[in-house]
Amino acid sequence: MPRTKVAGIGMYVPENIFTNNDLLKYMETTDEWIEERTGIRERRYANRTTETTTTMGVEAAKIAIERAGITAADIDFIIFATLSPDYYFPGCGVLVQRAMKMKEIGALDIRNQCSGFLYGLSVADQFIKTGMYKNILLIGSEKHSFGLDMTTRGRNISVIFGDGAGAVVLQPTEESGRGILSTHLHSDGESAEILAMYNPGTHANHWGKYADFDDAEIAQMFMSNKMVDDAQNFPFMDGPAVFKKAIVKFPEVIKESLEANGYLASDINMLIPHQANLRIAQFVQQKLGLKDEQVFNNIQRYGNTTAASVPIALCEAWQEGKIKEGDLVCLAAFGSGFTWASALLKW
Ligand code: UT7
Repeated sequence: MPRTKVAGIGMYVPENIFTNNDLLKYMETTDEWIEERTGIRERRYANRTTETTTTMGVEAAKIAIERAGITAADIDFIIFATLSPDYYFPGCGVLVQRAMKMKEIGALDIRNQCSGFLYGLSVADQFIKTGMYKNILLIGSEKHSFGLDMTTRGRNISVIFGDGAGAVVLQPTEESGRGILSTHLHSDGESAEILAMYNPGTHANHWGKYADFDDAEIAQMFMSNKMVDDAQNFPFMDGPAVFKKAIVKFPEVIKESLEANGYLASDINMLIPHQANLRIAQFVQQKLGLKDEQVFNNIQRYGNTTAASVPIALCEAWQEGKIKEGDLVCLAAFGSGFTWASALLKW
């Protein structure tokens, strides 16, 4: 059975840099608070009229496709991971198919938030190993800047997120010792609501607030003025609770991938953690006893780009020559759901 290799990788971040100090215009916060608690100094915000989650994904994809030495016409399956799609439906995959003038290939959208890219990688890996597809385009892209509460009310979340996209072309390889060794996927829905965007959604009556509404009123509950007034159209996060869980599950799922393949943490050439918070990455590094040169972080410049953060970090690490052929690379993510995942690969 072949393994799956990353044949090409690309990233795209908008030109517009938004520093911590730029946020002061809108909310009560400080550069010191943000940097001390998260490591973030600046993030990118998409051009408000020309850039969408899909267009950023397409820019990253063009680079990945060119680096793989193929053309868009060779892609035989698209997987798109995002929590900030251009439309509630259809997903961004079909918009990529249209924008890149691809054949009438399959397009799958993944809604697993921070772990979306790794879930996509795992799905692609199965399709490639079974011989179903030969050139899968996997994109992680987010345009958070169109859906944040930029008032003091939303500051615990809004200061964290940024826009950007990363993409890989995945192909089969018969080269021994190369490619994805294993992927590991997990979920625990017990705390689904502590990192969530509640609306638009179909749960409204479930919360009891609308019990007295008639059917016609309920039919409009997918998105109402009241929800907007209650800021339910913005993400909600109990940050400390997420932090506590993340620092347990990140090391656990990384160790799981190492043990499955007979490796130790010291064997890792590069760990690419989802860029949620620099403090989380530092905790994970310490817990696993990894040296600075074994872990890549770029949250300082891009903030948390959710489904895009792993491919953006992977791409930058590779572009900077920090990942070379034959290196043992571990990817790991944890976030909303909760869902968490890891992948171990030989580059
Ligand atoms: O990628 C998705 C997964 N997400 C994560 O992994 C995020 C995990 N959580 C975190 O990264 C952290 O919890 C945050 C960075 C979100 C928050 O840091 P924290 O140290 O946990 O702060 P906190 O929420 O406990 O808030 C501490 C204080 C509060 O004030 P009081 O009640 O102590 O007076 C907040 O109101 O900091 C206040 N605060 C802020 N102050 C200035 C919250 N946000 C801000 C802000 N600027 N932006």
